[in-house]
Amino acid sequence: MPCITVDSCTFTLFGALGDLALRKLFPALYQLDRAGLLHDDTRVLALAREVGDTAQHLGTIESHLRRYVPAQEVDQQVLMRFMARLDYLTMDFREVADYAPLAERVGPAERVVAYFATPASVYGDICANLAAVGLAERALAVLEKPIGHDLASSRAVNDAVAQYFPESRVYRIDHYLGKETVQNLIALRFANSLFETQWNQNHISHVEITVAEKVGIEGRWGYFDQAGQLRDMIQNHLLQLLCLIAMDPPSELSADSIRDEKVKVLKALAPITAEQLNRQVVRGQYVAGSSDGKAVPGYLEEENSNSQSDTETFVALRADIRNWRWAGVPFYLRTGKRMPQKLSQIVIHFKAPPHYIFAPEQRELIGNKLIIRLQPDEGIALQVMTKDQGLDKGMQLRSGPLQLNFSDTYRRDRVPDAYERLLLEVMRGNQNLFVRKDEIEHAWQWCDQLIAGWKRLGDSPKPYAAGSWGPMSSIALITRDGKAWYGDL
Ligand code: BG6
Repeated sequence: MPCITVDSCTFTLFGALGDLALRKLFPALYQLDRAGLLHDDTRVLALAREVGDTAQHLGTIESHLRRYVPAQEVDQQVLMRFMARLDYLTMDFREVADYAPLAERVGPAERVVAYFATPASVYGDICANLAAVGLAERALAVLEKPIGHDLASSRAVNDAVAQYFPESRVYRIDHYLGKETVQNLIALRFANSLFETQWNQNHISHVEITVAEKVGIEGRWGYFDQAGQLRDMIQNHLLQLLCLIAMDPPSELSADSIRDEKVKVLKALAPITAEQLNRQVVRGQYVAGSSDGKAVPGYLEEENSNSQSDTETFVALRADIRNWRWAGVPFYLRTGKRMPQKLSQIVIHFKAPPHYIFAPEQRELIGNKLIIRLQPDEGIALQVMTKDQGLDKGMQLRSGPLQLNFSDTYRRDRVPDAYERLLLEVMRGNQNLFVRKDEIEHAWQWCDQLIAGWKRLGDSPKPYAAGSWGPMSSIALITRDGKAWYGDL
């Protein structure tokens, strides 16, 4: 039986027939039900603009559940119980008159979760309309990314929401914060004294964060082309990971203590001037290549593409943090579509021992690495130096892992999807895993200067073959500093 309790609520899902809701949110709610983590009285109102009868729309939701929940996890009884919690309402989210029937379906004292899986341009209207029917004051607002396109537009969205929802009731999603291993970063850093004493420029030489995807644009060309990899991945997921690695220990595990520390990191990020851009940032765009041995088209040949686009599908950059802890320690960030494999990992490279006594040709090997694998095969490995075994080996060194593989160690049959954790925390009213307004804004400010620099220089992305690790210049970016991306084959 679960050891946490969750109060009941009416979960209102705006954009309930969209891709995110069907692929991620309903399956996550179903899994919470299966785990006994939905209160018996919790109901889910699916809200979307599509007309037609309720049974038909609920049928669509159920068929997607069957598609996206692995067959062995579909429990007929739980599925029936879950579907019985659901109702559907056709709404135009901008139209206040459409909110009266919604209000009628919510009990007078019921807690409301309002999940906005819609374009951010509608968030302000949804908030105003919820307020008009008296629901805003007892609701939590959950905002999906992207919140804006730059600092100014993100401020406009946040300000519109803030007119009706105080920050304490706003939950901004960055789904990376719901991933099991990302949460483990906090445990790893602050529940072990071993690491914290080493966690600074005296002992760490550099840090790598790679979030590589094997897939291309997958029918999302229209959306993605307006954003690009910097806005889509660096501004949120990679900067959040960087913050969790770089932040100082919070004084307690409360949402604001953690977020205060993350904001300090974002504020300390060194700006990258247009003059430094060429050395410190690489943009790429994939051209035709191969994935899993099959030929795949380039970004400009994908379905619905525009052959003139100069949107980047890859970014690698060097970030520096201007504070006492991290002075002189580069953080190399890299993310791209159509990479050779799906891989999210953080590698902390420790400095070599101060005095070296082994054979000169082995010097390159030296240096511990802490490898935190977010996906796939979640786990942590600490590469330590040992002597190779055998009479004939002399003092030949070898780097080997002290390894913790989460699925083997904890014998869990499944790793929960990030959205399961996030939806649960919203329903528990815990903001730890959600992004505060000032975090988003500092992250935008830092990314905006890169975009402005690219514009000023008339920069266009460098081509890289689909199925490769990105443009050659992304390798030069790190080798120039005498380092290499860890584990690239
Ligand atoms: C989303 C991006 O936020 O994260 C997508 O918009 C990307 O472009 C996705 O594919 C990656 O998430 P995950 O969990 O598969 O690493």
